[in-house]
Amino acid sequence: MYLTREEEKLLESDNETVSKCMEILVALGEIYDAEKLIDIRCAHISGISYQNIGDAGVEWIESLNADVKVKTTVNPAGMDLQRWEEMGIEFEFFRNQMRIIKALKKIGAEIILTCTPYYIEEVSLGEHLAWAESSAVIYANSVVGARTNRESGISAIASGITGKSPYYGLHIKENRAPEVTVVVNKNMDASVAGYITGKMLKKEIPLIRIGRELDIDEMKQMGAAMAATGNAAIFHIEHQTPEWKDFETPSERIELDADFEEFECEPDLIAIGCPHLSKDELRRVLEILEKKNRNVKKNLWIFTSRRTAETSKGLVVKIESYGAKVFCDTCMVVSPATEKYDCVMVNSGKALNYLPKLRKVNVKFGDLEECILNAVGE
Ligand code: F3S
Repeated sequence: MYLTREEEKLLESDNETVSKCMEILVALGEIYDAEKLIDIRCAHISGISYQNIGDAGVEWIESLNADVKVKTTVNPAGMDLQRWEEMGIEFEFFRNQMRIIKALKKIGAEIILTCTPYYIEEVSLGEHLAWAESSAVIYANSVVGARTNRESGISAIASGITGKSPYYGLHIKENRAPEVTVVVNKNMDASVAGYITGKMLKKEIPLIRIGRELDIDEMKQMGAAMAATGNAAIFHIEHQTPEWKDFETPSERIELDADFEEFECEPDLIAIGCPHLSKDELRRVLEILEKKNRNVKKNLWIFTSRRTAETSKGLVVKIESYGAKVFCDTCMVVSPATEKYDCVMVNSGKALNYLPKLRKVNVKFGDLEECILNAVGE
């Protein structure tokens, strides 16, 4: 792989963290036959819940001894940093999670603790990024038209510290072409469609044909679910996403067939906000609660970023006045708090896929309205 003189210097740097980071990126580039490294606009680190990385991960992050060179943001942690006790988080977990946060702060990462970094740092069409967090990657590639591969937490840190990423995969325009047309019934929930599409495809990039315009939050849900049940890192939607018309329509065609009967249990927790809710979605939650005008009878947890909660204070206060909790910095999947429950109802295909595997709980699916109606006892 070709390296510039500046990159060679980084590789031979006396700073062990910098040289290690370059070694990681060069090794990745060689595995994927990248011809060179490219400069990236920003990096996003995932997998920082203490629940995921454990003690070895904490020690590795604490050993980093260099500042990030480009804006580097961070995915949700295992708890709300302010209301962790209310979530039922043990002090020992809190202490270890805070060690991770402190170590990330030390290298200059921005502790936004959300999987929706695109609400905080605007990214644009054609920009190169190095993002981990599959739901953010697929959103950036598909909805925005920015370019990033599905990085690991480690390669995203290496890119943050060096400002570089190997030039392969979705950084290259021709690798972003759709390979199969997926025809979706227009009445299907976007998250369900993403869930099933991800399961059906192996590695092919889908062009979604759905007979209606999806709003931006539906596209977010669809992508998150697709990336969770499969390897997808980009999709196109006919007549909607920014790059769909740059390529030919694939002749191979699949029709979606939805069936969720396998998910049935009586929920004791309803959890909304995977990926983290936007301000519009918080507004929608409140509208449904106001329409019913009844306090919740079950635990209703809503997850969003602290930044969104702070800029939507009025909405948060009103939602909580119905007995729901709006938590920040974390989510139902990466927090051990969810494990206390038997059956978690979600409106997210991604959470539906991961909760049984990672938190060992039963799951039930409903759209946003069905979830909230269940919480108020209807
Ligand atoms: Fe975000 Fe957690 Fe879902 S990190 S995408 S809310 S699993």
